[in-house]
Amino acid sequence: MKAVNIIHISAECYPIAKVGGLADVVGALPKYQKELQASSSVIMPLYNNSFTQTNKFEKIYENYIALGHEYVNIQVLKLIDNKLGFELFCIHIPDLLFKDYVYSNNDTDRFLAFQIATLDWILTLDKKPDIIHIHDHHTGLIPFMLTQSYKYEKLKDIPTVLTIHNAQYQGWFSHEKVSLIPPFNFENVGLLDWGDSINPLAAAIKCSWRVTTVSPSYMEELKLNANGLENLLASESNKCIGILNGIDSKVWNTETDNNLVKNYNISSSKSGKKANKKWLCQKFNLDENKPLFTFIGRLVGEKGSDLFPEIFTKALKENNISILLLGSGDKEVEERLNYIPKENFNFYIGYNEKLAHIIYAGADFLLMPSRVEPCGLNQMYSLKYGTVPIVNTIGGLKDTIIDINSKDGYGILHNGVTIKEVTDAITRATKFYSEKEKFTKNLKTIMKIDNSWNNSAQEYVNLYKTLKQ
Ligand code: GLC
Repeated sequence: MKAVNIIHISAECYPIAKVGGLADVVGALPKYQKELQASSSVIMPLYNNSFTQTNKFEKIYENYIALGHEYVNIQVLKLIDNKLGFELFCIHIPDLLFKDYVYSNNDTDRFLAFQIATLDWILTLDKKPDIIHIHDHHTGLIPFMLTQSYKYEKLKDIPTVLTIHNAQYQGWFSHEKVSLIPPFNFENVGLLDWGDSINPLAAAIKCSWRVTTVSPSYMEELKLNANGLENLLASESNKCIGILNGIDSKVWNTETDNNLVKNYNISSSKSGKKANKKWLCQKFNLDENKPLFTFIGRLVGEKGSDLFPEIFTKALKENNISILLLGSGDKEVEERLNYIPKENFNFYIGYNEKLAHIIYAGADFLLMPSRVEPCGLNQMYSLKYGTVPIVNTIGGLKDTIIDINSKDGYGILHNGVTIKEVTDAITRATKFYSEKEKFTKNLKTIMKIDNSWNNSAQEYVNLYKTLKQ
């Protein structure tokens, strides 16, 4: 059978630009799809960051797009000397996109211009994609424009797939800006609307051929709680499906990961983890003989971070443990971390990919008390690196972790995000750590779990094949 030709369109893609898990998925899924005879490429904005400064691009297209009454110069750059495992195209719009950040508080024009430029360029291609796969609200107006804007008439039969990585953010903007969208039959303006504003995520749910979420449980949860989109998702449920994310086991490999202080495999895991833990404990002034609990991620309400100061203080008082946090976000939480006694606790404010890898390798436990977790990748990285995840029973966490007290269990689950639930889970984990033999055996069990993209990439390809005429 002829290979399916897919274009992924996204605001983030690892290793080019990463804010969260969206980047990891868009940077990995195309590689795995390629192995399944599906040729995938990625289109994203060109940001001004270290990847784009240190890699060579070739200009393959240049034009002007109309953004309301303005004409904006756009270029399409293709990455040369490409080692990513898929083709990468970046949309260069100097004044709007080429910044040293991915997101700001004023992104409507930026991502609208990105989407229009992308479609204008696709319109010129001799070989059109078989499938357009968009990710989150930043690319959410594409299915609407494809089916409704007169200028894209020639593309209207290309099937579109929307993946929702996080439904909390929807990209809302005022109807006053509707003229920025290339002209369409105004009778259908309702497709853009949800709750009296233009809602790109809602428009994408209405206009895409298929909608996926990044875990089956999250799909179910969204019907009850989707930041206002519950009814829409329930009414569109026959085109919705949950497909669990995988992890890129080429990047997340303890034997080859050159971020680590010491590499290891399942048989050398004890000494390998010990060396990474020692390095961490020296750097952050912690006792390497105590079980090390960690958190890696954004400090936002969704991740339960507002309770961290209380949880950490109580857990440190009640257990003989240390805690290390890597992340940034809510300034108030960052500030309150300073008041936790520093004896067995430390933190690093910011984003540091290398340090994150060493933490996955050196820690004993990873905390993920998320209130919402569409999939969560950190718990899967943590398993691969032999670190036991402690997670709330929600979304993708529920789909990937089995509690040690259940049959074939290997992680720790808690029900709900309260100070008591999470500290009780930490106490249970500390006890588990003291049962040395059981704990060591579990380490080997979790490292063997295969959460790579192999299965899920196939599920996506199967989905595309049902859409391709
Ligand atoms: C978002 C979600 C996270 C998911 C990731 C990749 O960041 O919050 O749960 O793993 O996207 O799909």
